[in-house]
Amino acid sequence: MAEIVIVPDAAAAGILVADEIAALIRRTPTAVLGLATGSTPLPVYEALPSRLADVDVSQVRGFALDEYVGIDPAHPESYRSVIAREVVEPLGLDPARIRVPDGSLEGIEHAGDDYEAAIEAAGGVDLQILGIGTDGHIGFNEPGSSFASQTRVKTLTAQTRQDNARFFDSIDDVPMHCITQGLGTILQARHLVLLAFGEGKAAAVASAVEGPVTASLPGSAIQLHPHVTVVVDEAAASRL
Ligand code: GLP
Repeated sequence: MAEIVIVPDAAAAGILVADEIAALIRRTPTAVLGLATGSTPLPVYEALPSRLADVDVSQVRGFALDEYVGIDPAHPESYRSVIAREVVEPLGLDPARIRVPDGSLEGIEHAGDDYEAAIEAAGGVDLQILGIGTDGHIGFNEPGSSFASQTRVKTLTAQTRQDNARFFDSIDDVPMHCITQGLGTILQARHLVLLAFGEGKAAAVASAVEGPVTASLPGSAIQLHPHVTVVVDEAAASRL
């Protein structure tokens, strides 16, 4: 059973999770962080610089969950750019120690295996930050994804392209494909921290935490993990 923490708002969640991450890095300066994108983890990234002010982060490693396929890496909404802008630069992390799946078309057939090998070589992820999509996806593992899946290329659903269109000029600019850590990859992280805010996430949160464990709701995979913390506001917790 996951530990559920209900907080007053997203800012409070950000502080709570940032404190947890800072404690981890103090204990383990070589900590490996699993980084998520989307709007949900932003309060964590905003709270981290003050929490890490007196902490040596030079050896911290990080692995992003996912990336769009075929997007220009320099595009401001590529996850490479987002992780650089929201995490690496403000925290002063070593960019060489932070990886994002390679969504470029050249070599895409090896990109998943290469990424898995890099995570393994780093000793696995210590703390994985997760958001959840309105359809229950985590990373970009859309409904139907195998719980054993590894990092691979997937097709984005119409719903997710619609949800993410706000980051682009128009929905036509949202890529059709992505490369994402699999549910199996995510489940190997030692601690999962899933965050969700707002009414729109309430159904997905309830299904992930309390519903049947099913590939139709990828977030329900968290029920298979022994160490999960779910941090939600009242609205996202309203159907629990
Ligand atoms: C995106 C990301 C996920 C994220 C989810 C929710 O498509 N690939 O990692 O958790 O959808 O996004 P948001 O946090 O913006 O609601």
